[in-house]
Amino acid sequence: MNRIDLAGRVVLVTGGGRGLGEAYCRELAHRGAAVVVHDNGSGIGGRGHDPAPAQDVAAAIVDDGGRAVACVSDSSTDAGGREAIMLALREYGRLDAVVANAGIIHDDSFEDWPTDRFEALLRHHLMAAFHVVRPAFAVMKDTGYGRIVFVSSAAGVFGQPRLAGYAAAKTGMLGLMNVVALEGAEFGITANAIMPMAATRMARALMADAADTADGREFLDSLRVDQVAPVVAYLASESCSRTQLVLSAFRGRVAALQIGVTRGWISETGMVSAEDVASHLDEITDTHDLLVPGSIFDEMASLS
Ligand SMILES: NC(=O)c1ccc[n+]([C@@H]2O[C@H](COP(=O)([O-])OP(=O)(O)OC[C@H]3O[C@@H](n4cnc5c(N)ncnc54)[C@H](O)[C@@H]3O)[C@@H](O)[C@H]2O)c1
Repeated sequence: MNRIDLAGRVVLVTGGGRGLGEAYCRELAHRGAAVVVHDNGSGIGGRGHDPAPAQDVAAAIVDDGGRAVACVSDSSTDAGGREAIMLALREYGRLDAVVANAGIIHDDSFEDWPTDRFEALLRHHLMAAFHVVRPAFAVMKDTGYGRIVFVSSAAGVFGQPRLAGYAAAKTGMLGLMNVVALEGAEFGITANAIMPMAATRMARALMADAADTADGREFLDSLRVDQVAPVVAYLASESCSRTQLVLSAFRGRVAALQIGVTRGWISETGMVSAEDVASHLDEITDTHDLLVPGSIFDEMASLS
């Protein structure tokens, strides 16, 4: 297998100033990419602004002999997203890949979730991805090449109590990925996603109770960012020609999510009653021979 080389490529990583995003920036730079380290340095809940995280990561990459520049705008706004894309073009003259990684966290029991916090979660994950990927897509369409990596989460795809806003935003990333992948295909643009786990400030805040026991601390320490960053480097590289892949990565395991539909039960008359659903539920939910459609049209075609 040839080394996956990103020399000459320019990659934008949102939320690149801390945690997993920092690890992505370093891995990409190590493989030769020029990196736009984009991070507004917000608090864990999305409040505040600090240029230091993005600037420090960019400076460390440059000190190591790599190429990097910091962008400290808020990617959850139209202007903030465009600023990051323009910086990539101004500094390096091109943009090859985007890792939509920025995010915040808040947890609450569902009935107590404050509306403003729910909206903030959607803004700092989903809108933050939309506002960088949309202008990046236009640049990539012109050059006929692009790699987009959305950062989703098992907490949304499979569910995690108390994370209503986070789960909704993270699963929304997959809808965005599907459409970008389908519209990007004819222009050489792939869109994939990752569901990481690593003991960053976000994960440690959510698993604060785990840190009370030796076993819990050991488990947290076993979730390392360097077990995830190479997976993102692959998805952001030319070597990855697949699109609509969703890879789960933690503790050294890399696996693929399958979003499929069962073969189901088919009414002979075309009419369906509520009683039919109840009496055929085993057949409806039988996961044997799962169909994994690449688009809504694939699912429709499966019945024609
Ligand atoms: N750590 C995990 O186990 C885990 C699991 C699944 C998904 N994720 C996702 O991975 C991503 C990185 O998480 P992390 O654990 O490294 O968290 P982190 O808090 O260490 O880093 C997130 C970074 O995003 C930045 N950010 C937030 N909103 C921004 C905005 N609007 N514009 C620019 N920057 C912004 C923050 O300043 C911060 O530096 C997040 O999207 C998170 O949801 C993490």
